[in-house]
Amino acid sequence: MPASELTLQLLGGSAGRPSGGAVGGACAAELEALHAEVYRTLPYAGDLDPGRLAGRFGVQCRQPGFVLAVARSGGYLIGCATGLPLRPSTSWWRGLTAPLADEVTAESPGRTFALVELMVLASWRRQGIGRSLHDLILSGRPEERATLVVPQGATAAQAAFQRWGWRKVARTRSVSPGAHACDLLVLDLGEDASPADDLPAVPAPDQCGDY
Ligand SMILES: CC(C)(COP(=O)(O)OP(=O)(O)OC[C@H]1O[C@@H](n2cnc3c(N)ncnc32)[C@H](O)[C@@H]1OP(=O)(O)O)[C@@H](O)C(=O)NCCC(=O)NCCS
Repeated sequence: MPASELTLQLLGGSAGRPSGGAVGGACAAELEALHAEVYRTLPYAGDLDPGRLAGRFGVQCRQPGFVLAVARSGGYLIGCATGLPLRPSTSWWRGLTAPLADEVTAESPGRTFALVELMVLASWRRQGIGRSLHDLILSGRPEERATLVVPQGATAAQAAFQRWGWRKVARTRSVSPGAHACDLLVLDLGEDASPADDLPAVPAPDQCGDY
């Protein structure tokens, strides 16, 4: 497939763009199919209930500030990133193996953007598409920092996020016996940011939690 047929698009997050919720709703079936395909082959996929994940996407895309970045080849969806700002009342920082300091977990409008999903179809990986989606969804964000949750068994994602400057600040408690533990990562977004320097490097929240 010629690279020229690869397109990236950011939806939501700005008055000039279609809302991520509207477009996410319109292509929900496509996004859920992508999700099912990506997670079907992952070592930690057994932890994830497809019905619960589909419902989660439906809830997220209606929340204020939801943004969606998509990568298509010849119109076919091959990757996406989703995210939204954390609300002051968020439960994001709960359910950790050790509590973080209040100054880390305190939320106020504009403090934290949650990168909820980043996925690329297996046959399209290692070509920079994940990085492009990551950069597109985070570019120009007004928040001070971004955060995400990644399973410890997600080897490729762990390597990618480390390479892109994310820092692990906490571990989540397993929500069910045998479930994979997750790491909670943070990335500073300010122009002068050196990644998460104000945060302790540590040894999440319910991933279906309240953003
Ligand atoms: C994580 C993911 C989105 C990366 O997508 P991608 O398109 O392959 O990313 P890139 O091509 O931009 O690769 C970025 C870097 O990640 C690292 N990386 C990616 N796959 C890797 C692997 N299998 N092993 C080691 N490092 C890997 C490399 O450093 C790579 O850079 P390089 O190719 O220049 O060496 C993709 O692997 C994926 O969809 N994984 C499953 C879903 C997932 O776990 N998402 C994260 C949870 S939110």
